Amino acid sequence: MARILVVEDDIDMQELYTEFLIKANHQALIASNGEEGLKKIPRFRPDLIILDMGMPRYNGLHLLLSLRRIDRKVPIIIVSGKTGMKDDIEIKLCTQVKSFLYKPVDLNTLKKKIDELIPVSLYTGEHPFPFKEDDNNSLITNPRPKPLAAANKTSSMIGSMLGGCRIDSVLGEGGSGKVYRGLHLAMNMPVAIKILSADSAQDVNDINRFVREGRLLAQITHPNIVKIINMGYESNCYFIVMRYLESENLLNIIKAKKYIPYPIVLNISKQVAMGLSAVHDMKLVHRDIKPSNILLEKSTGIAQIIDFGTVRGNREEEKVTEDGYIVGTPYYISPEQCLGENVDSRSDIYSLGCTLFHALIGYPPFMADNPMDTMIAHVRDPIIEPYSLKAEISPLFSKIIVKMLQKKPQDRYRDMYEVLDELEKVE
Ligand SMILES: Nc1ncnc2c1ncn2[C@@H]1O[C@H](COP(=O)(O)OP(=O)(O)O)[C@@H](O)[C@H]1O
Ligand SMILES: [Mg+2]
Repeated sequence: MARILVVEDDIDMQELYTEFLIKANHQALIASNGEEGLKKIPRFRPDLIILDMGMPRYNGLHLLLSLRRIDRKVPIIIVSGKTGMKDDIEIKLCTQVKSFLYKPVDLNTLKKKIDELIPVSLYTGEHPFPFKEDDNNSLITNPRPKPLAAANKTSSMIGSMLGGCRIDSVLGEGGSGKVYRGLHLAMNMPVAIKILSADSAQDVNDINRFVREGRLLAQITHPNIVKIINMGYESNCYFIVMRYLESENLLNIIKAKKYIPYPIVLNISKQVAMGLSAVHDMKLVHRDIKPSNILLEKSTGIAQIIDFGTVRGNREEEKVTEDGYIVGTPYYISPEQCLGENVDSRSDIYSLGCTLFHALIGYPPFMADNPMDTMIAHVRDPIIEPYSLKAEISPLFSKIIVKMLQKKPQDRYRDMYEVLDELEKVE
């Protein structure tokens, strides 16, 4: 369901639109001229505007010109009686105009256009946040805040405030944003703040993924899963505030030490398996288990899983290339992920197997010169027993990892609890 503002002076047309939109399961609001439309935008916050150009007094063009001065990305469908309207220079300058329809309006075409322009997220009820703007804000006198200088790629966020936190330094950087160390001033507590990059913040899929990450984390309380403190949207930045872990990620530790002694890997494996069992209990799959998404707290050795941006429901289809999840070096992804098939929790078992192998041996189980060949190796190449590469590894632990790394999900463990039971038997 989307919120659609119809700016139209003709009462019969108003009725026609309202009936049509309600039938299509949308929320409709009518404005009888451009001025009224402009006033209603801040309160109604439409997802789409259907705009009649030819109205007396403050007409469609006036509305377009005013809209251009304010920072709103709402798409507009223009309905006009005059053919050739789309060549009008003023209209060309208004990038929000996405479509032109000429009167008499064909409702089927209108429906198609609406479907194209409304983000899928609205249909799935996953609109990025019920962001509440101050209702008294007039869009004209109080335009949306410009992006923090900080949100731009070129300048730094260091020193900015976000969600009551001061941003102090960079902790890590990934595809869709950066993670900063900060201080929650009221709590006087160090925090990690993940901020969606300015580029990703333009993409409704990236926003949804980010919002989903925060909301999922908010549902999980587990000692082996990073704790979320807050999330929000401020100064054009989407952010997630987490408990800061004085830690190192497992990848950096492996890199520094070449490999990790097996008793420590065994300990980490149990902790991560416990965290993952909590995720799987919620019928979710993490889908991006790898060393850089596992943090180890320096003082306690507690392992925590981070990075829930790729989490999906059990059996949701993997989109290998479209989503851009599988980019870079796919050392830890399951054969079914490589093949773009449905994944379930057993895919995380495989990825944990790759992670443990890497930690124990010092390199991942399948490596090739390029991502495609690495994926082919996941699908085809036999697994080498870790025990045969490092004799000090417990043979049982080695066997467990081999079973986790089976090509077919049904040949692996049934679930993380079974993995945990087996790990408990390792000396
Ligand atoms: N809560 C945290 N405490 C300390 N460091 C963190 C925390 N969260 C993330 N990091 C650091 O930031 C890096 C990237 O975080 P991650 O959530 O994996 O983002 P991305 O999606 O960019 O991979 C991690 O590998 C880790 O080094
Ligand atoms: Mg990560």
